[in-house]
Amino acid sequence: MKCTVCRKPAVIDVRRHNANFCPDHFVAHVQEQTKRAIEHFKMLRRGERVLVAVSGGKDSLALWDILVGLGYEADGLYLGLGIGEYSDISGDHARAFASERGLKLVEVDLRDDYGFDVPTGAKAAKRVPCSACGLSKRHLFNRAALDGGYDVVATGHNLDDEAAVLFGNVLRWNVEYLGRQVPVLPSRPGFPRKVKPLVRLAEREMAAYCVIRGIDYQVEECPMAAGNRHLGYKEALNSIEQTSPGTKAAFYLEFLDKAAHLFNTDFEEDQVGLLVCQSCGAPTTAEVCAFCRLVDKATGAVPVVLGPTR
Ligand code: AMP
Ligand code: FES
Ligand code: ZN
Ligand code: ZN
Repeated sequence: MKCTVCRKPAVIDVRRHNANFCPDHFVAHVQEQTKRAIEHFKMLRRGERVLVAVSGGKDSLALWDILVGLGYEADGLYLGLGIGEYSDISGDHARAFASERGLKLVEVDLRDDYGFDVPTGAKAAKRVPCSACGLSKRHLFNRAALDGGYDVVATGHNLDDEAAVLFGNVLRWNVEYLGRQVPVLPSRPGFPRKVKPLVRLAEREMAAYCVIRGIDYQVEECPMAAGNRHLGYKEALNSIEQTSPGTKAAFYLEFLDKAAHLFNTDFEEDQVGLLVCQSCGAPTTAEVCAFCRLVDKATGAVPVVLGPTR
């Protein structure tokens, strides 16, 4: 197998592009795909301060590396979710990445800063863990960005993640979500812009990028996400991709270009009736925001102890 660009030995094939790449040209391919997404969807402007939400996993650490490589001023944000050993190891990877490269990592810890962790919060609020976790992440990403004066929050969602969510929403015709599944959410009062610059790159490409660039990452999946229905959707899409390369990218990227606008994308409308949380000041539809209500239920609850994750 030879590199399609330089004919040197290739280390990876990317079937949907009908191409093979040597390490250098693969890194160039990943940078190029990220640049294309940023430009096409007008995600970032030069000179803006970017906060990259890093989980310690491959996608978000790769994203941080790519954005810095493309010359963006990008700091990292790690949220300690308190999911046992999984979170401890994830945090170690995020810290090691930052310190080895002299980058700034902002850290927020649910247990230290808010008095609870995801397993305990989920149980106390009678929510599934991913729901308590997602709610906390959304709130704390916004808060950290606004407190730190960042223009935009970037997350490591890749093509496989977005295609799986779209697939789930189409299977159930959750039309209210379809218009929001765009890789850029504009800023609004109380909310920074949110972008997903890796939407043109598959999970497998991100893993290969980390290996080639020497990025150590948390390889375990979150133990709370086991059995998550999106994992099944990813498998289904991968099996289609196997026989018909390019289908996954077409499904998601063509949706964005041809169909997403047919659904409600009018974010301005959401603001009608938004109140200010009486506890933290965040925009909310109730008197007290969902995160503050979660904090209220979870602090003081008996901590849930997780067993070893491996
Ligand atoms: P997930 O929701 O776990 O699929 O993660 C999606 C994206 O959210 C990741 O690519 C990261 O950008 C971000 N993220 C997830 N977990 C964390 C965390 N603990 N701290 C900061 N960012 C995170
Ligand atoms: Fe949030 Fe697993 S990372 S529940
Ligand atoms: Zn090459
Ligand atoms: Zn609040």
